[in-house]
Amino acid sequence: MPLAPLVDSFGRVHDNLRVSVTDRCNIRCFYCMPESDVQFVERGEILDFEEIERFVRIAVSLGVTKLRVTGGEPLVRRDLPVLVRRLAAISGVRDLALTTNGVLLPDLAEPLYAAGLRRLNVHLDTLDRERFRKITRRDELDKVLAGLEIARRLGYSRIKLNAVAVKDLVEPDIVPLARYALANGFEVRYIEFMPLDAQNLWDRSKVLRAEEIIATLSREIAPLTAVPDPDPRAPATEYEFAGGAGRVGFIASVSRPFCLNCNRIRLTADGKLRYCLFAIEEDDVKSLMRSGATDEEIAALVRRNVAGKWEGHEINSTKFVAPPRPMYSIGG
Ligand code: 5AD
Ligand code: SF4
Repeated sequence: MPLAPLVDSFGRVHDNLRVSVTDRCNIRCFYCMPESDVQFVERGEILDFEEIERFVRIAVSLGVTKLRVTGGEPLVRRDLPVLVRRLAAISGVRDLALTTNGVLLPDLAEPLYAAGLRRLNVHLDTLDRERFRKITRRDELDKVLAGLEIARRLGYSRIKLNAVAVKDLVEPDIVPLARYALANGFEVRYIEFMPLDAQNLWDRSKVLRAEEIIATLSREIAPLTAVPDPDPRAPATEYEFAGGAGRVGFIASVSRPFCLNCNRIRLTADGKLRYCLFAIEEDDVKSLMRSGATDEEIAALVRRNVAGKWEGHEINSTKFVAPPRPMYSIGG
């Protein structure tokens, strides 16, 4: 029997769960990770597949229908296709997606597809090898591009490219990335740089705002117009090029916060439940599970977490406090 939906005190219904399966990563994007001495969680503290599957089933019983697997870099988690197959088989999961940096896609695009995955977001900021190296501190661009080509041929449904919009850095990549996406049938989404890097590099002046990117693309490719939003709770707003060349999306978390439409909760790789990317508090699902809690007790924790959700992040206020976890240990 379906239980009452997960509603917070602002009336927002939560039906979207993002599960991080590891905090490890095979590259080192500066807006997410420190360059060296990354503090990873010990393996024994990471939820195993049984625990992840159990939590997802409980979340689904509370009305979650959309699921995204994230990291760190999820493809470095051993036997990921085994987990994906188990998650895809849960009835009630209507939409299963995965966010990856693409480096391991040449090996894993096919097994993941065979496991039932159809939706991919691939992180890609630039098509230039040197700039890729500068941003990610690794020389892996060729693998990402090869992985994207393999994924495209396998027939994944509209692959999305995530590009982080950092001012005075990625301007030369905006147009080439859009052209590459249009030519390959991908949809690029520019994500405003958020204060989630591990070295406190963020400040407002480093955010390349969606408006600026829209102006550049409109000038260089074709005029862009906003597309009426089929799902107002999805964070990206979509724009269409005049003449039917295709679409691009914007996740304007800083210049146009969308917290009032938020439907998302997050489970970290070490089993903490977070009601916001920027949450300071979190609930310890793992300890509860490992101390023998029943599904009902875990469900009650999820309800409490959502009930206590704040109105939204305060990036644009002087009250803003950066969360204690950087991006790689939350999962985006
Ligand atoms: N600001 C905005 N987006 C970020 N990402 C990682 N770090 C940041 C940041 N500081 C994006 C990457 C990744 C997605 C999960 O989050 O594009 O694909
Ligand atoms: Fe790895 Fe993604 Fe962080 Fe880049 S943004 S370092 S790919 S987890």
